[in-house]
Amino acid sequence: MLYLRERPRRNRTLHGVRALTEETQIRRDKLIEPLFLLDGANKSEEITSMPGIFRLSEDKALLHAEQSLRLGIKSFILFPAVDDSLKDKTGSYSWSEKNFYLRIIRALKKKFPEAVLISDVALDPYSSDGHDGIVENGEILNDATLEVLAKMALAQAAAGIDILGPSDMMDGRVGYLRDALDGAGFTKTGIMSYTAKYASAFYGPFRDALQSAPKFGDKKTYQMNPANTTEALREARLDTAEGADYLMVKPALAYLDIIHRIKAASDLPVVCYNVSGEYAMIKAAGEKKWLDPVRARDEMLLAFFRAGADAVITYFAREYAESPHP
Ligand code: PBG
Repeated sequence: MLYLRERPRRNRTLHGVRALTEETQIRRDKLIEPLFLLDGANKSEEITSMPGIFRLSEDKALLHAEQSLRLGIKSFILFPAVDDSLKDKTGSYSWSEKNFYLRIIRALKKKFPEAVLISDVALDPYSSDGHDGIVENGEILNDATLEVLAKMALAQAAAGIDILGPSDMMDGRVGYLRDALDGAGFTKTGIMSYTAKYASAFYGPFRDALQSAPKFGDKKTYQMNPANTTEALREARLDTAEGADYLMVKPALAYLDIIHRIKAASDLPVVCYNVSGEYAMIKAAGEKKWLDPVRARDEMLLAFFRAGADAVITYFAREYAESPHP
């Protein structure tokens, strides 16, 4: 027998010992549940590439949110699936009086004042070009887009959203939105900035869900290059200076180092977005019985918190909250 001073396995002997030495926990109130919203009534459409995730009309969304809240989820991020006939170059439906997304925000906030509601601020769900900004001669215009984003943001704030989620990656949009909010008296409305949003293949199923894929080209002139780290730190510095309340990294699974680096560099809360493709991968492999999807899910969620995320946006939120946990 060896005289080993250190035997790390002593801290892994019993279940109780492993609990004592466990460093990271997943908490339901740290998970943000995405909800895809539709106009109309009594509609619940499953998204083919995201099994278990549905587009919901107002009545169904209210019911769904009520159940999620009862299960311990406290926060929701909302995305509209807009009919193609309502899309145009400037995304004008996004601030229209008739917009069903704004109507559902009002209904959710009225029924569940304690729920944290986070919006999506970007043109792509409303744009006939399928881009996050205004397109002119094949180019995505930065400054002209900011004006439109501010209109959208103010409409969302007026509807009662708690936190705006600018996902467009235009330069200067956090400061522009902060000024617009403050100018209109919405000083309590927060901004969760998509700080480091990469041009990623992992958004595929989401674009199916909203039918929001770009009609031409890709998003590489505004979303970030997956090869870059210092660029993420630069974006974090700018968003912080411009008044962001949260910094977000997106996607999450292939960007754990970015989560870790931004968390270390910042005194703001860091959120990561466990995107549609990351959800779909686990679901698909699970359906084929190539891995245990529940264990893979929990291992992945744990990794986000271990990397330094304060909260995680995940399509697994509801499923996680429903499953038996301590
Ligand atoms: C677009 C937006 C996207 C997602 C959230 N907001 C897609 C994109 O940038 O094309 C993706 C989320 C996901 O894949 O789960 N404003």
